[in-house]
Amino acid sequence: MSTLATSTSADSFEITRTDTPVPDAQREAALAAPKFGTVFTDHMARISYAQDTGWTNRRVEKYGPLQMDPATAVLHYAQEIFEGLKAYRHPDGSVWTFRPQANAARFAKSAHRLALPQLSETDFLGAIQALVATDVAWVPGGEETSLYLRPFMYASETFLGVRPSLEAEFLVIASPVGPYFAGGVRPVDIWVAEDYHRAGAGGTGDAKCGGNYAASLLPQQEAYAKGFEQVCFLDASTNTYLEELGGMNVCVVYADGSVATPPVSGSILEGVTRSSILRLLADAGHEVFERPIPLADLKAGLADGSVSEVFACGTAAVMTPIGRLAGEGFDLSVRDGTAGPVTTTIRAELTDIQYGRAADRHGWLHRLA
Ligand SMILES: Cc1ncc(COP(=O)(O)O)c(C=O)c1O
Repeated sequence: MSTLATSTSADSFEITRTDTPVPDAQREAALAAPKFGTVFTDHMARISYAQDTGWTNRRVEKYGPLQMDPATAVLHYAQEIFEGLKAYRHPDGSVWTFRPQANAARFAKSAHRLALPQLSETDFLGAIQALVATDVAWVPGGEETSLYLRPFMYASETFLGVRPSLEAEFLVIASPVGPYFAGGVRPVDIWVAEDYHRAGAGGTGDAKCGGNYAASLLPQQEAYAKGFEQVCFLDASTNTYLEELGGMNVCVVYADGSVATPPVSGSILEGVTRSSILRLLADAGHEVFERPIPLADLKAGLADGSVSEVFACGTAAVMTPIGRLAGEGFDLSVRDGTAGPVTTTIRAELTDIQYGRAADRHGWLHRLA
């Protein structure tokens, strides 16, 4: 557990507080019933980049609209990346985040793939820390609530040529969020897409860039229309192996207690939740495999009982049991649509660490305020 340093990289941010913050009563009402990504805090952190000056003007300023020239590069060629992590309030009132160094490293990897400038871990963490310290009153304290942090970077040069932008903006915005599913952990129904792919070999599947999500929206919309909540994508080369959901990784639990998840081989986003869960599973004595999972094997395992649970995992919903898996020509129920014991136990272990109810034995927490 890293402690709050007296002097941090957040000190290099110039803080200009808004003189029109959301009134206390309105903020408290928003914190009492937060909805994902709908309400934002009073401020945003920001750093600007130009090729000849590098990253300059580290600041925290009033949250508000960005002014953009219609020829700004990101609007045309989608040169954009983002991250998602959460700030958790602990019982003693302190505020912590979870493995932010992993998000900083993934952000750097995404920046490289999208030909955007590299931002240091120091600036990534400093921006988060400066924003959360300024808007600390916005970190909710209710069960399964948190302040969702959204760092992002976009190509800000006014130029229509197809080449990497010479200018970029990095921002962090924050939104109080509640439990992802009302009424606790609820299994979701998944449609396996065989006619659309999220990413291909050599593409941007292992980068967190907006374009990947744009490509997943139509399949998601079609799955919704069929009555499913999320889509599971297969590999683009052979249409054989499970890859991941539009915004979560996927894991399979077997009746012998072992757990498998697809390897991060370039087209899958390497989830921070995924690797944390694999560690907790191994700690608890489960055999853990990162190996290709043919859809045919999963279908057979669900039919003969050798697969006992399937779950999705990511920052937003932590761990989500999958209760039904269907696709063209098949429709299988998982545990009759109930959450399994491995999913439920590991989920509780992970959230106990995040919310400061259990010892942080892996040093995953980073204090923000
Ligand atoms: C495509 C995709 N896969 C997996 C994940 C899970 O990643 P993490 O656990 O770091 O939130 C996310 C969420 O960020 C995602 O968008």
